Formats: sequence, C-alpha cells, structure tokens
Amino acid sequence: MSIYLGIDIGTSGTKTLAMREDGEILATSTFEYPLDSPRPGWSEQNPADWWDASIKGVKAVLKAGKIKPADVKGIGLSGQMHGSVFLDKNHEVIRPALLWNDQRTVAECAEIEKRAGGRKKLIGMVANPALTGFTAPKILWLRNNEPKNYDKVVQVLLPKDYVRYQLTGEFATEVSDASGTLLLDVSKRQWSQLLLTKLELDNAILPKVYESEDVTGTLTKAAAQKLGLLEGTPVVGGGGDQAAGAIGNGIVKSGVVSATMGTSGVVFAHSDAMQVDPEGRVHTFCHAVRNQWHVMGCVLSAGGSLQWYRNHLGDAEVRQAKKDKVDPYQLITAQASEAAAGCEGLFFLPYLTGERTPHADPHARGCWIGLSLRHGRKHLVRSVMEGATYAMRDTLEIIQEMNIPVKQVRLSGGGARSEFWRQMQADIYGKKVVTINAEEGPAYGVALLAAAGTGAYKNVVEACTKTISVVTETKPDNATKKIYNKYYPHYGHLYQSLKGDFAAIAKTVEEVG
Ligand code: XUL
Repeated sequence: MSIYLGIDIGTSGTKTLAMREDGEILATSTFEYPLDSPRPGWSEQNPADWWDASIKGVKAVLKAGKIKPADVKGIGLSGQMHGSVFLDKNHEVIRPALLWNDQRTVAECAEIEKRAGGRKKLIGMVANPALTGFTAPKILWLRNNEPKNYDKVVQVLLPKDYVRYQLTGEFATEVSDASGTLLLDVSKRQWSQLLLTKLELDNAILPKVYESEDVTGTLTKAAAQKLGLLEGTPVVGGGGDQAAGAIGNGIVKSGVVSATMGTSGVVFAHSDAMQVDPEGRVHTFCHAVRNQWHVMGCVLSAGGSLQWYRNHLGDAEVRQAKKDKVDPYQLITAQASEAAAGCEGLFFLPYLTGERTPHADPHARGCWIGLSLRHGRKHLVRSVMEGATYAMRDTLEIIQEMNIPVKQVRLSGGGARSEFWRQMQADIYGKKVVTINAEEGPAYGVALLAAAGTGAYKNVVEACTKTISVVTETKPDNATKKIYNKYYPHYGHLYQSLKGDFAAIAKTVEEVG
C-alpha cells in the first residue's frame, strides 16, 4: 500500500509521521531544537535546525515503520506560521528567522496601517489587521533596523517553505500559510500587488503560491540521498499548522468547528465563502481545502495557563502524582471538580503572555478577580480552567456573530484528554463537543493532503471523510450551562475595565526596568 509522509516544523520540534493510504499511522518521531530570545520579546530560530530535524525525522519513521523508499508516494509539509527566513543571492540564510511569537514589530505594524491608508483599508486588502507576529511587519523591521541584511535579501520564506526549498530546490508556498504573511489577497488567493506597492516591497522576494493539495515540486537527488527516499518523490503544498491541524481534525465542511486547547488555544471554523470580521478580532485565512476559507481565533495561554498553575502552584500535586505514578493534571483537575461551576464569582483572566484574540493586546496580563475568604485551591484551579475556556468562547461568539454556523465542536489537545474539561467546554460553549479517532494534528493533516494531492483520493475532503470519525460525544448539562451564561458577560467586562491599567502598568514596568 502507498505511504505518505507528513512533516510539521513546530516551535519546539519537528514531528514526522508516516501514514498508510487508508489513514493508518505507521510511525511518528519528534526531534527538538532550541528557541532563542536574544532580547525581551524577541523569538528566533535557526532554519538549519528545522532541516536537520526533518532529515532525522524522515529517517526515523522509515526505520520504525520498516518502510521501503519506493512505497513513499508523497510528502506534505506543515509548520509554525508567520515566521520569516531571509535568503541571500546564494540562497543562504542571512540571519536567524523571526518567529510567530516575536513581539518586536509594534512600530512596523503601525507603519503598515499608515501606508495602507488605515486599518479598515488594510483589512479590505488582506482580510486582516497588522499583528506583531505576522510576516510583513518582520520584513519591514529588517529594512528599518538591519538595512545591510535587508539589502542582501532575494527571497523570504515561511518556516515549512524553507524545508520545501531544501527538499525540492523550489521557492514555493501555499495559500493557508501565505495568508498569515499579511501580504496575500485572501479573497483572490494570490499576493496583494496593491499592498506590496504601498509597502514598497518587490514581489520577486516572495515564493510562488499554490493551493495546499497541489504538487509544488519533487525531491532533488541531493535531498533524496540525505533522507533515504527516491529522487522525484512529489512534495505537496501542505498547510500552516492551524489549517493543517484542522484537516487532521476533519474540519473540511461548514458547521464543524475545532477547539484545540494546547499551550495556546485555537478555535477554527471552515467557511465556504470568505467572511471577514470588520473589527479584525479573528483571522480570516485561506483554508487548505481548495477554494475554501477559514476563520480562526488564537488564545495565547489556554492550556498554558493550567501549565503555569501546575509549575508554580501545583507542587503538592506534582509530588503526589510522582508517588502514585499518575499525570499531575489528573490530580489537579480532580481538585478543580470539587469546586462549583463559576467558582462563587472567582474569575481568572488567562492573559499570561498578553492576548491575541479577541483583544490583540500585548500588555494584557493574567489575574484572579473576586477572591474571598471562602476561596481555596480548588477554586483557584477551577477558575484557571474556566478562564481559559471563556477565552475560547470569545472566538466562538465572534464566529457566530459573523453568521458562520457552529453545529459541532471537535476538541483536541490537552483539553480534550480530560473528561472533566470536555464537560466544562460543552457547558461553557453551550454546544455538543466531540473527539475524533485522529490525534496527530498537523503532521497527519498534511499526510492526508499529500495522499489527496498525488491521487490516492479525489480531494482532501474525501481523504478526511474516509479516515476520520467521531469517538466521544459530550452534551452540555443544562443547569451548568445556565450558570456559565450568567458568569460569562462578567468575564468579558473585566478586560474592558482593566485594559487601561494593563497599558499603564506596562509603561511603568518599562520605566522601572
Ligand atoms: C497561528 C499561530 C500559531 C503558530 C505556531 O496563527 O500563530 O499557531 O503557527 O504554532
């Protein structure tokens, strides 16, 4: 049977997966690499590490799955979005890549809005406002701050597309990842010549844009030798990690939405037509499904808030878990389940690393509000979980305001593993939530795209329908849902009351140093 490889260039490591044509996973491997933060708010990686981890990953899955090179019929690429790899005329990397979570481009975001003629006009051109993590502000940052490096740039690539260049020798990208550069005309699915002109950027520095299923090139002899594969093996477009993860969750038709609670939390909705939030609170990007779009919101510290609680306040549970040989989160969530829904008016705002959706506020910070003498650890931890889940509901609410239907919410990530958190999500979202048989996320999604793009399936929708099915269903409990519906408006109001203070405190922190 034919085999397809999915390679996901993540922020902490690269995950490689080998999938049989029928969707069965034969082997996976992950190779990690460091992330550098040379200054506060900066986040960089060395692209050579991604390529190195990809070579190791492919070799490892071929070995573990006992796969013959001739059986590998296609490769799909996924990766962290928005990063920028700058290449010179010899196609060498000029400086470390700036990543999606790098915050250095506040001034360049303002410059882009100004050059575009205002936020509204910018959203009209590329469907999204300028956010510090996106790629276009990074290119302008290089021009404004490292002009000698900028003068050398002949090509700018996204992380997975740098690996594609190493695999195929081609400069290519695909629509889902290209949408997160802020340079794509998301409605036409091609670079926005209008914005490029306003930003005085030459479109020759950008790669060719394909649909995600399309074959963008084939393995060169040199790459094939390094990987232990055959020269000429096709490489399809793949997708940015969110679109690819959505394919891996089977989010390929209207009405099905995913809520992925990892370190960050992402709510992702498929859309048959391009729909834009005029306020720019959620992202509108091309989907990895041909001629379809998606709307997505990203909560920066969702599961990350519970991880923070475990690391700094969960010592007792971590020690006990070690003794009992169980996962500390099992004990932490058991404690949370002892508190009542809504925690008697205790709220946690999960803005530990600022917030992207819906506030786009790097200065927002986490806090507990509403503490009383009656509150103890069980309330503290339950309110952290509720705060992260309210933050995800914010995106669901905006999506529904945009008239995008939400019939089923598919859960994945750490938040899907706990039965307690699944029920809490059903109660806070007020929707039936389900989990599916596939848990491998983006690497699985791009293996499916590779299978579809090289002819094993009619298209990626068919690939998902034939391989992905629902395994658990959780309905909201009506009484608890009512309680959350009463508390949720207070949660939303707290940020509005505090945002001025967050900005003022950030200023003081900067002054004090
Ligand atoms: C998506 C986003 C992250 C990164 C890293 O907009 O910023 O998902 O792609 O995973």
